[in-house]
Amino acid sequence: MNNGLEDVVAAETRLSDVDGEAGRLIIRGISLDRLVGRATYEDTAALLLDGLLDRPVTVSDLKARLGRMRAEVFTHVQAMDEALSKLPPVDAMRALIARLPDGEDFETALRLLAAPAVFLPAVLRLQKGEAPVAPTPALSQSADILAMLNAGLPSREQVAALDAYLVTISDHGLNASTFASRVVASTRAGLTSSVLAAIGALKGPLHGGAPGPVLDMLEAVGTEADAKVWLVRALDRGERLMGFGHRVYRVRDPRADALKGALKPLTATGQVDRDRIRLAEAVEQAALAILKERKPDRPLDVNVEFYTALLLDALKFPREAFTGVFAIGRTVGWIAHAREQSLEGRLIRPRSVYVGPMHQAA
Ligand code: COA
Repeated sequence: MNNGLEDVVAAETRLSDVDGEAGRLIIRGISLDRLVGRATYEDTAALLLDGLLDRPVTVSDLKARLGRMRAEVFTHVQAMDEALSKLPPVDAMRALIARLPDGEDFETALRLLAAPAVFLPAVLRLQKGEAPVAPTPALSQSADILAMLNAGLPSREQVAALDAYLVTISDHGLNASTFASRVVASTRAGLTSSVLAAIGALKGPLHGGAPGPVLDMLEAVGTEADAKVWLVRALDRGERLMGFGHRVYRVRDPRADALKGALKPLTATGQVDRDRIRLAEAVEQAALAILKERKPDRPLDVNVEFYTALLLDALKFPREAFTGVFAIGRTVGWIAHAREQSLEGRLIRPRSVYVGPMHQAA
């Protein structure tokens, strides 16, 4: 019995490799630092999905079809009723996705890539009392998400930053939501069922729910001068510093640096709150020094959520939507893993050790 399945190998994959000692993430043979800043969302989606569906996936074909699919999926936004609009955005988005047909083919995969990208901005606008903005099929997925969110064309730097985020989080080994997707796929239930299970796993605070609290922490710290004192007090209260530490990485999470780099063009062109970035850098430096002092035997470094919070905030996503944006990016990884499991894996059916009472004859 291995509680939490730590160190248990449950799948063979050609999709991604997480090296926790070296701090390296490889996606289909390409190191993350070579991918981010060069590849768009569509490039990465084609990289992950090609060879796993019932037709080849090329970047230009995927881009054109995905744009048209966003327009098709938008018709489902009308199913958003009062009950759904009261739910947290990720739950409302999941409920709308649950209305879509199941299947294993390219068309189903495409619909699932388009759905969260269309539903999340629509849900956010409806919850603010604003009309949803229809997709523009000719735009890239990242540009269209921002256009649907903010009702206006985004800047080049904003599109590049969202592409960098979606590429960075596209796949990450056998994390909890990806495992959930593979378990459902192993029963041959269909890709929509796999993605719904994965969203359920993602929204938990131990998985995809952490970046909102990073912003809360920065706001509570207040100023650069107060960073050290605030962090020491938080640790004295037994709290964890949000955006630090990781189950697998024993060094800096490579995704944190990818996102830090992606913020730079926005900062250089005045499209972010510079004071917040300065404060975040001061908090990061202070936290690393204090954690090193307090936990000399446990390497604790910055993780992906720290810079996710800054980047998504700069792109004007409200913090309650951060988990939903994570789902937009990770859906391609979930689909690729689900297909890999269907094509090559067996039904996932582990065993449990019974520790309850045994039947006793009277
Ligand atoms: N701040 C302060 N101390 C931390 C810490 C943090 N962010 N992360 C881990 N630690 C400490 C723990 O208190 C523990 O100390 P102890 O042995 O004295 O009790 C030690 O480091 C090991 O922690 P553990 O819970 O075994 O690590 P884990 O690998 O199971 O946890 C996380 C990984 C991500 C859940 C954990 O680092 C955390 O809670 N981070 C903050 C939340 C966060 O940023 N989540 C996003 C992850 S991508």
